[in-house]
Amino acid sequence: MKKSTRTLTHTFKSIAKFATAASILTASFNVFAEPVEIKFSHVVAENTPKGQMALKFKELIEQRLPGEYIVNVFPNSQLFGDNNELAALLLNDVQFVAPSLSKFERYTKKLQIFDLPFLFEDMDAVDRFQQSESGQKLLNAMNRKGIVGLGYLHNGMKQFSANDPLNLPKDANGKKFRIMASDVIAAQFDAVGAIPVKKPFSEVFTLLQTRAIDGQENTWSNTYSMKFYEVQSHITESNHGVLDYMVVTSNTFWKGLPADKRAVFKSSLDEAIALGNKIASEKGNEDKQAILDSNRSQLVTLTPEARQQWVNAMKPVWAKFEDQIGRDMIDAAQAANTK
Ligand code: SIN
Repeated sequence: MKKSTRTLTHTFKSIAKFATAASILTASFNVFAEPVEIKFSHVVAENTPKGQMALKFKELIEQRLPGEYIVNVFPNSQLFGDNNELAALLLNDVQFVAPSLSKFERYTKKLQIFDLPFLFEDMDAVDRFQQSESGQKLLNAMNRKGIVGLGYLHNGMKQFSANDPLNLPKDANGKKFRIMASDVIAAQFDAVGAIPVKKPFSEVFTLLQTRAIDGQENTWSNTYSMKFYEVQSHITESNHGVLDYMVVTSNTFWKGLPADKRAVFKSSLDEAIALGNKIASEKGNEDKQAILDSNRSQLVTLTPEARQQWVNAMKPVWAKFEDQIGRDMIDAAQAANTK
């Protein structure tokens, strides 16, 4: 073999040895590398559609990206509550949150559509609107603020509760109601002469128990899991509005994920949301029944005429927010009421 060929062969062998050593080193680093911690924070109990969805998401990510990521779920406002979860998301102190659609008002006025009283006839209509082109567009409403909407999750229709029976709008007059931080919901209670008080979810039970407030509005699932029915004598089955969620992350975190991992995160989240939605539709009725069986709270059923009085009193709220929300969006939402 010529000297130059021998030198070349030797050089190739050295490179090959170096490459093998480097890959062994990288592999051993990977073996010992700590998985990246992902935090998912929310304000409700684990036995709720959102609580179960978050746990499913954890399970799927840890199964599909083993050793690479761990997902720690913090329920019950343990890590962040209503007042700071979105700010924490933007600071990357938490990577996933799923606030109710009423709690994004500081970041977009467009989602106020979901708070308009008596807009959606039922959860099927809500679902049709969310899956429509208009509904999907709203997932991007906060992109410029650094928030990425990844999907909608159902909880259910809201009911009023109080320490007196609420049959007609006049029964709410002068009563204090805890509300989520939403100007539309505030206007809804103003419209019946009630006093809306914006408070975080974590404080509602104590506010009701101590009678600092007279009532609230929520879904069957939240009313049951947070035991509001134990401190409210009456629940009016009003189905006057929807309480659903948007699962969001920050633009910084989402764009920072390698494309192949991002795809796994998205498909896992879609599956987790599908499970959450299934639980939401089953739990609504189950939790309502459990509340009725407890005999702690009495059900107020509205006659069609009584319900129409609530509609007449509260529907004028739509006009106040039409400019911010957009007439086209309201039309699209109403269109979802017909199959
Ligand atoms: C939630 O379901 O996330 C909380 C709703 C509320 O604040 O009433």
